[in-house]
Amino acid sequence: MSAPAQALFTPFQLGTLALPTRVVMAPMTRSFSPGGIPGADVVEYYRRRAAAGVGLIVTEGTTVGHKAANGYPNVPRFYGEDALAGWRQVVDAVHAEGGKIVPQLWHVGNVRKLGTEPDASVPGFGPMEKLKDGQVVVHGMTQADIDEVVAAFAQAARDAKAIGMDGVEIHGAHGYLVDQFFWEGSNQRTDGYGGDLAARSRFAIELIRAVREAVGPDFPIILRYSQWKQQDYTARLVQTPEQLEAFLKPLSEAGVDIFHCSTRRFWEPEFEGSDLNLAGWTRKLTGKPTITVGSVGLDGEFLQFMVKTDKVAEPASLENLLERLNKREFDLVAVGRALLVDPDWALKVRDGREQEILPFSREALTTLV
Ligand SMILES: Cc1cc2nc3c(=O)[nH]c(=O)nc-3n(C[C@H](O)[C@H](O)[C@H](O)COP(=O)(O)O)c2cc1C
Repeated sequence: MSAPAQALFTPFQLGTLALPTRVVMAPMTRSFSPGGIPGADVVEYYRRRAAAGVGLIVTEGTTVGHKAANGYPNVPRFYGEDALAGWRQVVDAVHAEGGKIVPQLWHVGNVRKLGTEPDASVPGFGPMEKLKDGQVVVHGMTQADIDEVVAAFAQAARDAKAIGMDGVEIHGAHGYLVDQFFWEGSNQRTDGYGGDLAARSRFAIELIRAVREAVGPDFPIILRYSQWKQQDYTARLVQTPEQLEAFLKPLSEAGVDIFHCSTRRFWEPEFEGSDLNLAGWTRKLTGKPTITVGSVGLDGEFLQFMVKTDKVAEPASLENLLERLNKREFDLVAVGRALLVDPDWALKVRDGREQEILPFSREALTTLV
């Protein structure tokens, strides 16, 4: 192993969370859970990564127990005895390999379409009502809806702890429900959940507090957030480090232990005048550990692959990443597509077998290896 690569394979400890390596598997929706239940193939998929040097697995987005949480077919649920029993198998398999795992708790909000599982008649739920041809396609959430969704996240976190998960990640990124409240493009509410960014953060803060209350002081809570939205890749919640600090402080105080800072290219400076990326700034401003992500080990960013394309992302040098990790710009490194296509990615990096690392193409999405 090259000396700088060693940084990826040193343990990480935060309270009760002890990770054998700093390689994190990024959450990736795979849609291989018919009926919302993760089966034996999903168990094996995660087990293989834990066996091959991934220190922390963040599962694919898994929906909390609210009727409008899901947006896509065959996404695993994180409620109901059948689905939780499936997840328990995943947890046991990952632990048997010495890995750690947290579920990414997900509510898609207003992007849900009528006709989606599990109840086709339920529209999207979001900060704002949306009508199309006189029909409600997004239901604007009332206080009672907000309370219900917050309670669903808290219950999911309680269940995560009960089945042996090592923490939870709240999906607050990419233009899904929590992020829809953050972003002024999707939240023009005139009650206490809308207004400036501080007011737009109220929903997330209540949710984080409820999760913390549900799991107690020692159970790790990760918050994934992003500037970019799937509705607008150039969207920005904040323009300056001062604004970022004001945004993150209340979230941090509400109970976040680790921030997972979602970017498409980890090497891009977040603000002018400094090389720090979003995870670097977040660590500096909050004092909390952070996870970086975005095109680690690949030469093309993931959004190019969300549409039909023949493009291939080739393995890329880790030099820049390792330099930053060695300087502790961030604590942990999440890897998405490189680990999706190649379960042994981390071992190959550790053992200096870079030439054996597989390229990524859309074809990888069609199987669960
Ligand atoms: C197939 C696929 C599914 C994804 N699903 C999720 C998801 O469920 N939750 C999430 O937060 N991000 C999701 N992402 C984003 C990844 O977690 C990650 O941030 C992104 O792929 C960038 O990392 P990479 O360049 O290493 O692939 C997904 C990405 C891919 C490629």
